[in-house]
Amino acid sequence: MRSIIIDTDPGIDDAMAILLAVKHFNILGITTVHGNTTVDKTTRNALKVLEFSAMTHIPAVRGSEYPLVQPRYTAASVHGETGLDGPDLPYPTTPVHPGHAVDFIIDTVMSKPDVTLVPIGPLTNIAMALRQEPRMKDHIKEISLMGGSTTYGNVTMAAEFNIWCDPEAAHIVFTSDVPIKMVGLNLTRQAAATPEVIERIRNLNNQVGKIVAKMLTAYSERLRQLFGLSGGSLHDPCAVAWLIDPSLIESEMLHVAIELSGEHTRGMTVCDQRGLRPPAAGISAGDGIRAGLAPNVEVGMNIDVPRFMDLLIDTLAQYP
Ligand code: BDR
Ligand code: CA
Repeated sequence: MRSIIIDTDPGIDDAMAILLAVKHFNILGITTVHGNTTVDKTTRNALKVLEFSAMTHIPAVRGSEYPLVQPRYTAASVHGETGLDGPDLPYPTTPVHPGHAVDFIIDTVMSKPDVTLVPIGPLTNIAMALRQEPRMKDHIKEISLMGGSTTYGNVTMAAEFNIWCDPEAAHIVFTSDVPIKMVGLNLTRQAAATPEVIERIRNLNNQVGKIVAKMLTAYSERLRQLFGLSGGSLHDPCAVAWLIDPSLIESEMLHVAIELSGEHTRGMTVCDQRGLRPPAAGISAGDGIRAGLAPNVEVGMNIDVPRFMDLLIDTLAQYP
């Protein structure tokens, strides 16, 4: 069974990703980061998820409070003030695992073979770990992350939230040479929690299904109002689903660069989709066409939505 660390800022879709992952992988730890709300609250929310799913044996480790360079942003308009608005969840009593998430990631990756990282929030912890222990990049099996887009953003026209929250950290990760799978908004917006999906989850009639249905109802309503979507996008579970069943996702190997300075484009994942052929093919890039850089990311393009929803709902059915 694959061993993973989930680096997360719960977050309603983060909670779904955790619930999906727990039943399919050996979760070595959940590391938290600023993002949808402050790291105090994302850590508390991680513990709430572990408590209502009866999974408190999994350590939750608190991580970075701020991005590397810029000020911190949060997303109360999407996930509510608590970061997990919707159901009334008790204050967690499970203690936070001692130590810092960055040290936990380094120690775990360096001491165990083939650890996969699943970052579904801003990339601050992962970037800090790669900088603090450069040898780590050769020990990570792969990174399956939610972030970016091949098309438009959600925070700005160009930038998706997780990358926007810490573009410098994203740059460190995307230039690290670690194998990366990226699910961005172009893919994750296909996976909408429509009223029909929420109804199926509610009808599971287990405690976890009822809690998730409440979360998704509040989340979907906010995204309908904000963007006119048919339901809340299940962004983060897509990064987990790709690892569970690779046949769910169609992908392309692309060069992806993080825009760090553009007036309208800071935080954009600039994906080279030009289809430039290698120079040996004849006419090569020259005047008028700049050569491309080698692909560094496997980018998710499409997801089989019905099969993804079945996987998610069948997994939620396994909980009490
Ligand atoms: C990403 O931003 C967060 O609000 C979600 O949890 C997801 O990780 C989508 O842009
Ligand atoms: Ca997230």
